[in-house]
Amino acid sequence: MAEKKQVYKCEICGNVVEVLHGAAGDLVCCGAEMVLFEEKSADEGKEKHVPVIEATADGVKVKVGSNPHPMEEKHFIEWVEVIDGETSCRHYLQPGQAPEAIFKGCSANVTAREYCNVHGLWKS
Ligand SMILES: [Fe+2]
Repeated sequence: MAEKKQVYKCEICGNVVEVLHGAAGDLVCCGAEMVLFEEKSADEGKEKHVPVIEATADGVKVKVGSNPHPMEEKHFIEWVEVIDGETSCRHYLQPGQAPEAIFKGCSANVTAREYCNVHGLWKS
């Protein structure tokens, strides 16, 4: 049973998918069931992942995390997303960029999520 906005990964090929419409079936890739990412919200260890939401004059800036997360080829934040009710916006990042994204037109009451290619899905 998949639910809207859940994120799944194929542990064989590395495909990562988000559910746009949930239904009863199991998600399968490469002949195996895909693995659901739990949305983690408590940092552990020296690398920080929980998104930090800051209000700007016309929206929000989301930083990952309380200490800037590495943005190296093998370990980086692939995307940052804000969810405001039924609206969501996603900003994709590349290695070498700052681990942050600016979203105009949303209030500071949004939920933020980010995906680290090594440590998975995080939410605040
Ligand atoms: Fe990470």
